[in-house]
Amino acid sequence: MTPEQRYLELLKKTLAFTLWPEPPVPIETFDYHRSPFKRKMASLLSRLLAHWRLRLVREHSYGNEQREEGKIWPLYAQTMVGLKRLDNLQYCVEIVLRDGVDGDLIETGVWRGGSCIFMRGILAAYGDTTRKVYVADSFEGLPAPDPGKYPADQSDRLYQVKYLAVSQAEVEANFAKYGLLDEQVVFLKGWFKDTLPRAEVQKLAVLRLDGDMYESTMDALGNLYPKLSPGGFCIIDDYALTGCCAAVDDFRASEGISEEMQAVDWTGVYWRKG
Ligand SMILES: C[S@@+](CC[C@H](N)C(=O)[O-])C[C@H]1O[C@@H](n2cnc3c(N)ncnc32)[C@H](O)[C@@H]1O
Repeated sequence: MTPEQRYLELLKKTLAFTLWPEPPVPIETFDYHRSPFKRKMASLLSRLLAHWRLRLVREHSYGNEQREEGKIWPLYAQTMVGLKRLDNLQYCVEIVLRDGVDGDLIETGVWRGGSCIFMRGILAAYGDTTRKVYVADSFEGLPAPDPGKYPADQSDRLYQVKYLAVSQAEVEANFAKYGLLDEQVVFLKGWFKDTLPRAEVQKLAVLRLDGDMYESTMDALGNLYPKLSPGGFCIIDDYALTGCCAAVDDFRASEGISEEMQAVDWTGVYWRKG
């Protein structure tokens, strides 16, 4: 292994928090599926215990496979995509660097920023000082569904999940922890439907979509796919989710995209633009 490869292996494992055991989960962290009454009780109990610097946590039974394949919502990791999808991201970025495919890198839907930090790390490892990493997110979580326009999102409730809302300041701090926050990193804050049509992005070599919903996927594809250079990669994180899958299929059909989709794992897919 070259020093660059060693650095990137360590960076992936650190961002995905797989070097350490997944800690037990504080009861108030994933409370969106509880009734309002139970949520209130859990919150009261947590606040009471905090008084004595105590926390009520729940043990879990995640196996290594679930963590590696990004099947869990982790407590401390800076990305939830798992090691296989990080390997795929590395593969795509390394190929565009090797082949000199023109353009920048973007992820739409970044959460704590881990996948974007990794893209910036790959550029740093190979001494690329020209390409930008665009970091597009509301930094407030997912939008409420707009069923009139996007019926596929009708029953989506992810907008209620506080865990998915991570501020830009927190994401910037995460980049800084790895020494990777600099002028090559550009934040696009806001809903995709507002930010992506007027983003300064000219050409893309890697387009990574991780916005979960039909609307978020379609906004990203519609605004950014035309900017993807020939030889560039389009990566879809959420093909296992009904809304995202429908948006990808609709977009590919309407644009006549015939490049074959390759599976990354149980949910990730990608294709290379011809
Ligand atoms: C599943 S998380 C992304 C996980 C991340 N890629 C990682 O590496 O862990 C989805 C993210 O998409 C963002 N998001 C979804 N739809 C959006 C939209 N329409 N506009 C802006 N942000 C959106 C949410 O705020 C959230 O941060």
